[in-house]
Amino acid sequence: MEDMRGKTAVITGGASGMGKAFAQRLGGAGMKIVIADIEEPALVATVAELEAAGIEAVGVPTDVSKLESMESLAHAAKTAFGAIDVVALNAGVGGGTGRLETLSTKDWQWTFGVNLDGMVHGIQAFLPDLKAADSGHIVMTASIAGHLAYPSMGPYNATKYATVAIAETLKAELEHDGSNVGVTCLCPGLVLTGIFQSERNRPEQLLDTDIATEPISEEHAARREVMAEVILTHGKSADMVADLVHDAIRDNTFWVFTDEDFDQAIADRHQAIRNRQATTMTESLLGVYDE
Ligand SMILES: NC(=O)c1ccc[n+]([C@@H]2O[C@H](COP(=O)([O-])OP(=O)(O)OC[C@H]3O[C@@H](n4cnc5c(N)ncnc54)[C@H](O)[C@@H]3O)[C@@H](O)[C@H]2O)c1
Repeated sequence: MEDMRGKTAVITGGASGMGKAFAQRLGGAGMKIVIADIEEPALVATVAELEAAGIEAVGVPTDVSKLESMESLAHAAKTAFGAIDVVALNAGVGGGTGRLETLSTKDWQWTFGVNLDGMVHGIQAFLPDLKAADSGHIVMTASIAGHLAYPSMGPYNATKYATVAIAETLKAELEHDGSNVGVTCLCPGLVLTGIFQSERNRPEQLLDTDIATEPISEEHAARREVMAEVILTHGKSADMVADLVHDAIRDNTFWVFTDEDFDQAIADRHQAIRNRQATTMTESLLGVYDE
């Protein structure tokens, strides 16, 4: 997409973190911005910030886990700005964490609802119009966890592997159809955002009251502290990721990785598959930063 000026971008999870940075970057390039998010106070505040920066923006309260909410988003976006050119399916949560046997059905439902159903609903609500116009671009935010399955992140890993698979399928189908719609599969490593406070948006009906009220163990608290420190030291800025996404839309680039920190681990996994061996994973994705 050579010239973004005057075109429209819809960004899910656009009220904070990476989605907000995409809105600022694409808005700065002259696009009209529709941000969709479940966290309404943050949504209102981000729209005000974008407008103060001279960007034409609207916010649409949206729950990506519900198809009717995504269809209303598509309708509201078209009503506000006409045709839609870029769709960034980016809303996501860290979701339920812990050993597989400790996870509840609600942990899986919450994580799958936002991270996976959100992608499917985005494609259902927006792809037909993009294909009919034979132009535009879809960005799908996956993760390094779409290439490496670290322990205690089962639901998240499953949704991000699925996102990579959907993005690859979409790219292949569009190519076979001779379509001019572009696709980017964004696979961030560690980025400084609110992802580790995702529970703030967990719907009440998907809470496990007993788990939610249980005090966290000392071991869990210590692990969190280490994690916070590693993220502060090694996490990339959301603005840097937004620059990469802007360039990927402009140049129609499929894969976007935010660093090379996990390249060796991904290569080792591919080699293990070629050797028909089990993949050896470190206990945590933070292992790559061990001195
Ligand atoms: N931060 C990282 O290190 C990292 C790494 C890899 C991938 N990611 C992915 O990046 C994407 C953006 O996350 P982030 O890191 O900016 O976190 P974030 O928490 O700062 O932003 C996520 C946004 O999604 C919104 N959201 C949550 N549930 C929603 C729902 N049901 N409907 C609509 N919006 C909802 C939140 O309100 C929030 O604004 C996610 O898909 C995440 O999995 C993040």
